[in-house]
Amino acid sequence: MSESRASHEVTRHEPAGAVGPSELPERFENPGLPPHRPRLTDEDPAAARRATLQVAALFGLSVLGTIGLIVAYVLVRPGDTVASVRTSTMVLGGALFLVLFGIGAAAIHWAKTLMSDRDVVEERHPQKSPPEVREGAVAVLEEGAEDSGIARRGVLKGAMISALALFPLSLAVPLVGEVGGDWNVGAFRHTMWRKGVRLTKDPSGEPIKASDVTVGSAFHVIPEGLRDSERWIEEKAKAVVLMVRLDPKDLKSEQGEGWSYEGIVAYSKICTHVGCPVALYEQQTHHLLCPCHQSTFDVADGARVVFGPASRPLPQLPITVDDEGYLVAQSDFHEPIGPSFWERLK
Ligand code: FES
Repeated sequence: MSESRASHEVTRHEPAGAVGPSELPERFENPGLPPHRPRLTDEDPAAARRATLQVAALFGLSVLGTIGLIVAYVLVRPGDTVASVRTSTMVLGGALFLVLFGIGAAAIHWAKTLMSDRDVVEERHPQKSPPEVREGAVAVLEEGAEDSGIARRGVLKGAMISALALFPLSLAVPLVGEVGGDWNVGAFRHTMWRKGVRLTKDPSGEPIKASDVTVGSAFHVIPEGLRDSERWIEEKAKAVVLMVRLDPKDLKSEQGEGWSYEGIVAYSKICTHVGCPVALYEQQTHHLLCPCHQSTFDVADGARVVFGPASRPLPQLPITVDDEGYLVAQSDFHEPIGPSFWERLK
């Protein structure tokens, strides 16, 4: 039994008619184009006539569409009602469809049935110019340089190089100047949040009492007085916060001691990947999801990144309550909000 297996393993059977590696030709000849297969319209004059009429009919359809469109434009005017606007639009759209469909379909049918369908080969010629042409070009350039006297007049050469080298500044300086007058990147490091600023609902600006925040709920939050700020849109873009209330026993960690209030935590809503608003809260897992590239943060665990391209947690806003029970900030964020770009500046 083992003998027969051994002999089976060493025996190779070449398929009938197979060519061994030593018999392969040095190169394969160009097999050329497959023979042309005539179409019905190539061989049958009646079929060609039919195709001609069909193409003409399709062009005729387009002509009718154009006439119909002009007539409809004059007669079916949009009036004061929505229905009349809709009717006019539909009639004009239908006519336009006939105009374009007729031309397109006629062109395709013409090409497929009546135009020549023989394959044509065009040999590729060398792209390089012949040596004498290239030598001529170099000679012309050298002659030009000689004529200009640039090799002899070093002052001119230096002046020209300086002018050309500085020329891009005439475009770059206004461009950079337009980018913005405020080059103080420190503005990005701070937001409107200060000690005692109330957390209010976005967009109503209504202050939020801790007692109104139920376990599992999520609030989109802006700082009180945002609208009074001169540049409130920019301030809002930095200060938006997502606040949720967890069962305090689910809270595993936060970014600072005492930064939450009875399970209520507030995190910057600006994704630390490239700055989309992180606003999809999954109550059961306590995960906050960024819709742009699916970075996922665990708000029960200091907004740790559990998935996705973001490389640092969402900054936490330290919060507490004031004398009236309203939620207030303890301070600004303790680090810049937004993309992880800031990590590289540390
Ligand atoms: S911006 Fe949030 S994951 Fe990319």
